[in-house]
Amino acid sequence: MAARLETERLLLEPMRLTDADRYVELIVERGPGARGHGTDVAAARLKIAQMADGAAASGIGFLALRRHGDTDMLGYCGLLVGRASLDEPELAYELLSREHGCGYATEAARAMVEAAKATGRRRLWSTVGDWNTASLRVLDKLGFHRHHTAPGPQDSDLIYLTRSL
Ligand SMILES: CC(C)(COP(=O)(O)OP(=O)(O)OC[C@H]1O[C@@H](n2cnc3c(N)ncnc32)[C@H](O)[C@@H]1OP(=O)(O)O)[C@@H](O)C(=O)NCCC(=O)NCCS
Repeated sequence: MAARLETERLLLEPMRLTDADRYVELIVERGPGARGHGTDVAAARLKIAQMADGAAASGIGFLALRRHGDTDMLGYCGLLVGRASLDEPELAYELLSREHGCGYATEAARAMVEAAKATGRRRLWSTVGDWNTASLRVLDKLGFHRHHTAPGPQDSDLIYLTRSL
């Protein structure tokens, strides 16, 4: 997968250790119980280094989103094996809440879908909590359709969506 993508408003490139503060913000915004990783900068730096290693090994991973000419990370978008596979990976994205509602997730994810297609992959997946209207709308705009539903965490349902490339 290309390690650097550009859209009209955004640059997508590998996360840097200097993004650790912003990464911690993202984790904290998930709220207690959904944080997954430590919420200190040292843990975030370790996670960023691990993600770089994982991307080097698998050829897929997350890219930081930045506005052109700005160094601050707004969030990330990328591909992961997740609940799918390396051949048909999952699309994922997460933005700081102050950046929501500007179309950035759709813009970045559209470029990521094209990057996945350029690797020769034939299909992508995404798994989304049934409560996550914003994420479901992003996927709808990208041409994903609902495939099936499975039980998710905390009494929610997890919707599996897919898109042919
Ligand atoms: C999901 C997420 C990435 C969307 O980012 P974003 O940049 O705001 O998304 P976009 O602006 O590209 O598109 C969001 C769409 O959802 C719509 N939307 C957002 N909240 C909504 C709500 N509560 N009800 C209905 N529609 C909603 C927006 O209006 C927009 O659709 P539109 O373009 O037709 O108006 C962001 O909310 C986020 O980071 N959430 C936390 C992490 C997360 O849930 N990641 C996905 C895990 S599966």
